[in-house]
Amino acid sequence: MMLKNDLILRAARGEQTERTPVWLMRQAGRILPEYRALRAKLSGFKELVETPDLAAEVTIQPIDALDVDAAIIFSDILVVPEAMGLTYEMVEARGPLFPETVKSAADVARLRVADPEEHLGYVLEALRVTKKALGGRVPLIGFAGAPWTILAYMVEGHGSKTFSKARRMLFQDPELSHQLLRKITDTTIAYLRAQVEAGANMLQVFDSWAGILNPQHYHEFSARYIGEICAAMPADVPVTVFAKGAFFAHHDFAQMPCRTIGLDWNEDPRAVRQLVGDKTLQGNLDPCALYGTPEQVRAATIEMLERFGPQRHIANLGHGVYPDTNPERVKVFVETVKEHSTRMRQDLA
Ligand code: CP3
Repeated sequence: MMLKNDLILRAARGEQTERTPVWLMRQAGRILPEYRALRAKLSGFKELVETPDLAAEVTIQPIDALDVDAAIIFSDILVVPEAMGLTYEMVEARGPLFPETVKSAADVARLRVADPEEHLGYVLEALRVTKKALGGRVPLIGFAGAPWTILAYMVEGHGSKTFSKARRMLFQDPELSHQLLRKITDTTIAYLRAQVEAGANMLQVFDSWAGILNPQHYHEFSARYIGEICAAMPADVPVTVFAKGAFFAHHDFAQMPCRTIGLDWNEDPRAVRQLVGDKTLQGNLDPCALYGTPEQVRAATIEMLERFGPQRHIANLGHGVYPDTNPERVKVFVETVKEHSTRMRQDLA
């Protein structure tokens, strides 16, 4: 199927675009009343994730409601540990919980390298249904967590400010850590390749807990596995690496075989451009900027666009949109990106 809007793919490949493409991390979710209405009728988050027709429906909701330039498949990074043998629960208003965690060599040995069709078939089916329903309106983004971030949840068992159990494992048993990262990486490579076969046009790797590692550990336990994942993807499918808080790892990113680097709002895009060369950058408005008045949202968005410059930029927030954000403000953000980035090119011409 021919894409009617392929701006984000062209921007990711470093090609010239007539305006800056825009989407939001967590655009499919609680900010939309139509999501909350559907979600309220179900037993919980997992039912939504595991029912392909419903996952496809909420994936498409923000395309209709917000007019963004890409759809991201509605799922979660935690489906991977589950496919490897560690079930998660999504506890209402608290977040993910793993009743069993990884503590020992025996625990790592028990985990399997998952087979995507067998263990993650519901995500692949959701991608196929979504792709068909989109009818080429916008590209579809597939995703997975980075191996380090997945290890962090598997060892810790739930969210944490420090993930000190997970970081402790890196210090106390680097070899076991690498064994676990190996299994997660092999699963993730097969899973992301299967997502491409099921219709994903582009991929994003979320390293949400990158920022709590020291630079040496980041290099040894995270960046090298992400690099391996990027290198294993089909050459025509752009990969974005979003490593939240990893301002110390620009050298790793410059070497990474990926097209796009996602930036959180702590980063100065001009400084990052100097360090990572000709890669495309994604980001990075502070999600809290969307709590402002329409005028404030517009001003903050324009400031951000000017810092990135007109080309090789995919506009987004610096992290997922917060659930209590007014969708009208999101629309102001999206419209401002479209208008102002068009104007930036006219000013240059
Ligand atoms: O729109 C999209 O971006 C696609 C959907 C998506 C979800 N999770 C849905 C979701 C994506 C890309 C994710 C990724 C994800 N999941 C990450 C990486 C991105 C990041 O935020 O750093 C992480 C760390 C997770 C793990 C996770 N899932 C947590 C910590 C939580 C609880 C916190 C929260 O936001 O409630 C989730 C739950 C979750 N994943 C929800 C959604 C829409 C909320 C569940 C609900 O509807 O009740």
